[in-house]
Amino acid sequence: MNIPGSDIPFRLVEEAVPAPGRGEVLVRVRASSLNYRDPALASGHYPYPMEPERVALADGAGEIAAVGPEARRFAVGDRVASTFFPTWYGGAFRQVPEMYVTTRDGWLTEYKVVDEDALVAVPAHLGFEEAAALPCALVTAWNAVRGAGVGDVVLTQGTGGVALFAVQLARALGAEVVATTSDPAKVALLEKLGADAVIDSRATPEWGAEVLAATGGHGADLVVELGGQSTIAQSIAALAYRGTISQVGLLGAAGAGLDLAAFFGKQAVLRSIPVGSRSDLEDALRVVAAREIHPVIDRIFDFDDATAAWAHFSAPGRVGKVVIRH
Ligand SMILES: NC(=O)c1ccc[n+]([C@@H]2O[C@H](COP(=O)([O-])OP(=O)(O)OC[C@H]3O[C@@H](n4cnc5c(N)ncnc54)[C@H](OP(=O)(O)O)[C@@H]3O)[C@@H](O)[C@H]2O)c1
Repeated sequence: MNIPGSDIPFRLVEEAVPAPGRGEVLVRVRASSLNYRDPALASGHYPYPMEPERVALADGAGEIAAVGPEARRFAVGDRVASTFFPTWYGGAFRQVPEMYVTTRDGWLTEYKVVDEDALVAVPAHLGFEEAAALPCALVTAWNAVRGAGVGDVVLTQGTGGVALFAVQLARALGAEVVATTSDPAKVALLEKLGADAVIDSRATPEWGAEVLAATGGHGADLVVELGGQSTIAQSIAALAYRGTISQVGLLGAAGAGLDLAAFFGKQAVLRSIPVGSRSDLEDALRVVAAREIHPVIDRIFDFDDATAAWAHFSAPGRVGKVVIRH
């Protein structure tokens, strides 16, 4: 079978269930989810190449089926989810850590042995399919909105996995949220998630001025930048003085790009977001648990129909995450 839009043939492989070694656990994987990188990897448009024969998908959740010698963090039956970088547990980003799919087998599998330190516990209010939607997009959104709080305005862009978690987390932190979308059909969902104002970015190409108008001229204290080249000019226009741009995505290649004079004029702060560590994800999960946040899942596919998930992820109209049930 082929991943739609890609030349990479994905093969279904039968293997013996592996046994966990020292410090490792065996996870019965119950669900996995796609992120923007997965179609990019499959079509060769990811900055790091996918090694041949690697198992797909970085996000997964399941239950502990066996515990190896000296593994103490989890017991059989515990519900766990992956972390995006299996060897980055905390602290600053000082190098590109190991990543699933590019240098390690991913989570599109029924059983998986991993180091126990590469896992987090799943909040009690979430099922496996919801848990599998969390790791990459949630921790990215968390690091992007981190620091915002009551009295701040957070601007989000679109209705993808990262953007919707950013709306939910910013609201949970007490911030006011202004969201953009290019699809008027998605306005109601953003409002339901807690966006205080939603701007149709296609109908209003100069939406930066709309953000100022929606916030009484103040602007956004923090922008979750997802469009990149295509949106950064409007993000700066939307920014409050001394506001922060969290640079997360590069979804749009066309556009005016970064105008340093405008950036300087706002005395803006730019910070790049490198997904996040396990410790960052655990911080985000505490908020998810306390506020009983549920991820927005657009559609769930069966394991046998997994490659259809790639086509659906790239189809117009999607909101939030695409999940595979194992
Ligand atoms: N730096 C990091 O740590 C990190 C981690 C994860 C993801 N990312 C990046 O973040 C971006 C989003 O990832 P994702 O998984 O959330 O993707 P996604 O689920 O595919 O997001 C798609 C949504 O983004 C919106 N969108 C599309 N093109 C856009 C553009 N040019 N400008 C603004 N919004 C646009 C659309 O929403 P509407 O239809 O509502 O307009 C679309 O539905 C990607 O570039 C990804 O590579 C970065």
